[in-house]
Amino acid sequence: MTPPTRPPEAEASRDSLDRAALRHPDSLKWTAYGPDVIPMWIADMDFPVAPSILAALHGRLDRGLGYHQLMGDPTLHTLLRAKLATHGLSDLPEGGIILLPGVVPGIYSSVAALTRPGDRVLTMTPVYHPFHLSITGQGREVAAVELLDTEDGYRIDWDGLEAAAAHTDLLLLCHPHNPTGRVWTHEELERLRDLVVRHNLYVVSDELHADLRFTDAPFESFAADPRVRGLTLTLTGPCKAFNTAGLGIGAMIGHDAELVKRVRAAAGGLMGHESALSVTMWQAALQGGGPWLADTVAYLRANRDFLTGYLREHLPWVRFHPVESTYLAWLDLRAHPQAGNIQNFLLEEARVAVHDGPTFAPEAFKPGVQGLIRLNFATSREILQDALERLRAALGEQAGA
Ligand SMILES: Cc1ncc(COP(=O)(O)O)c(C=O)c1O
Repeated sequence: MTPPTRPPEAEASRDSLDRAALRHPDSLKWTAYGPDVIPMWIADMDFPVAPSILAALHGRLDRGLGYHQLMGDPTLHTLLRAKLATHGLSDLPEGGIILLPGVVPGIYSSVAALTRPGDRVLTMTPVYHPFHLSITGQGREVAAVELLDTEDGYRIDWDGLEAAAAHTDLLLLCHPHNPTGRVWTHEELERLRDLVVRHNLYVVSDELHADLRFTDAPFESFAADPRVRGLTLTLTGPCKAFNTAGLGIGAMIGHDAELVKRVRAAAGGLMGHESALSVTMWQAALQGGGPWLADTVAYLRANRDFLTGYLREHLPWVRFHPVESTYLAWLDLRAHPQAGNIQNFLLEEARVAVHDGPTFAPEAFKPGVQGLIRLNFATSREILQDALERLRAALGEQAGA
């Protein structure tokens, strides 16, 4: 694929980030740790929001902030339908899309509606932590199957999944997968669909990172195949691709409108509604955000490659697989003597804040990912390089150094 041409000002807005400006008191990412720490933990990008989105938000403020189209904003629904069709989610029925105040409420309400206390819910581990927290926090049991770390990258343990699938009614799937950065291939999705049909499982497919791919193939939703359409709820939102997590909005999509309704009803009035500004933001992202997104993905891909080259050259003992999507690298530092305390060690010695591996595993699997970290590389090349140099100085070129 030819890289998109970037106007120089777009590149400059990503290349010349001002740390003092980023560390404003509203930023959780930049204020959670000390003023000399480079924050590479929570999944926000350091880049400014797309100018077309900002313009739309300013325009929305001029129109007042009363209740918006709470029954489903028609413009956003039309834009979303067109977008989802490109992922293979065409022919959605009336009521097949509902807006949510975020993707996480969609995960929680699905677990509440589709399982009962004590039931097992299947997921793969490691995984974005609300997957297992939504299960244990609602009195269900996690049936987790570990992803296999192979020479070719993370792979699904099909035997493990098959065995666990026999004792559950619901699979929580992360596609693309946070934190390994895998984009499940057509072949893997087909095999998963076979399994889901064989065991008659419901699937919640969190596809929030779908627009941040470094692979050339078009994105294929899990529910793109009619065999699993009636069983699947897809979750998506604009916040990862457009860096708008503070506005909070998501969508639940299903070809079975009754299933969507049932899940929405399980949350009842507790869910709340998406905000007017978030609707405007998502409309603007879908209408005119494409070029900004293409530039951002190109920048992130170059950061990913820079990170890969740097680690291979200067920290060759760190095990990792370059991610196929997302700006979150999943790095295995278990060969280091400080692996048992790695997040604290890096904070203290490198002044770099990363996410600790065990965050992404249910209780029983936490020891297995102690010594792994998730590192957010969605920042300027200059800040990324500074962080990597700090890590190199703290960790040493050899694991035991
Ligand atoms: C896979 C995944 N799902 C959901 C979320 C959070 O979504 P929201 O903020 O819309 O609840 C994240 C945030 O990083 C994520 O990585």
